[in-house]
Amino acid sequence: MSRVVLSVVGARPNFMKLAPLARALAARSAVRHIIVHTGQHYDPEMSDAFFRDLGLPRPHANLDVGSGSHAQQTAAIMRAFEPVLLDTRPELVLVYGDVNSTVAAALVAAKLGVRVGHVEAGLRSRDWSMPEEINRVVTDRLSDLLFAPSRDAVENLRAEGLPAARIHFVGNIMIDALVAALPEARRHNSCARYGVAERGYALVTLHRPSNVDDPATLGGVLAALDQLGAERPILFPVHPRTRVRVQALGWAPRHAGLRVLQPVSYLEMLGLTLGAGLVITDSGGIQEETSYLGVPCLTVRPNTERPITCTHGTNRLVSAEREAIIAAAQEQWGHYAPNGCTIPRWDGHTAERIAAVLCEEERFD
Ligand code: UD1
Repeated sequence: MSRVVLSVVGARPNFMKLAPLARALAARSAVRHIIVHTGQHYDPEMSDAFFRDLGLPRPHANLDVGSGSHAQQTAAIMRAFEPVLLDTRPELVLVYGDVNSTVAAALVAAKLGVRVGHVEAGLRSRDWSMPEEINRVVTDRLSDLLFAPSRDAVENLRAEGLPAARIHFVGNIMIDALVAALPEARRHNSCARYGVAERGYALVTLHRPSNVDDPATLGGVLAALDQLGAERPILFPVHPRTRVRVQALGWAPRHAGLRVLQPVSYLEMLGLTLGAGLVITDSGGIQEETSYLGVPCLTVRPNTERPITCTHGTNRLVSAEREAIIAAAQEQWGHYAPNGCTIPRWDGHTAERIAAVLCEEERFD
């Protein structure tokens, strides 16, 4: 009889990490894979569009938890997930990344004595003011299988005393999703659809609480975009939490070149990243995607849990200040690496390695 592995996803970046693994597990009879969607992200363009574009199977259950404070959201996921776990009795619960859905599901599983596997284990920003850092550390401590995306992540886990036998250096599963989607993203012709020239525009995403929750900080970042928008087109798909804050400020772009958009689909985002002259972001995954593609990236944060994108990729950190962003954008502009960057095990085969570990075929040190 095949073993049941249950994946828990809830927020936009989880869906990209799930897709390659769902495909790899579907090809193996040793495992029956089921998916639970917590409903942390629920707007159609934050969730359904990703399930459609990534060809994800329908979830076994949707917990429909929606938004709330961290405590409310985490507690709602735990309460709703426990009966599903008791009902489905998987051998292993797989969680992804650093979102509230991840830590909530890991806590429920660990307390019921169900093994936990963490995809994207070991990343550390060492910034305890980030909710995601708390989620990462707690989830790794609760996990029996730690799937690390990079060597520095392996070192972080070892330094925290986690047993070597639990740690598997499998590589970055976001790159699997990207490699699989590239041909279709290229066919999408995103530059033409948005009427922008290849390498002639910047692409912006912002949603971190540290950048958008404080009106003065957000005002400074938007002022920088206003000024950069006078020089060249900027496409700015706005995350729902950012939209609320931007509206509260009463801000509207000063130049027609700065175009405020609804959140875009995964394929559209990839297409726009491929053609950008510069990406300005505070996302985790986009730091990785731009590095892989060789597109210059400015990350508006004081630190990153993905330092390899700065040392081996195209990423650079910048503080959330108007002048700093403008100066850094001018310096980074055009530093395109046409052959991309090579980071060990960011090769499109991470899901295969994880599936092999889950089926106890191999281990990856
Ligand atoms: C979450 C993750 C973050 C990840 C991001 C990607 C945590 C702690 N944070 O942040 O690590 O990078 O997702 O998007 O889990 N909202 C909607 N519709 C939606 C989703 C959210 O309107 O579909 C609004 C709600 O007002 C909500 C707010 O956005 O209160 C924040 O959503 P939430 O999921 O709590 O966190 P994110 O900021 O999206």
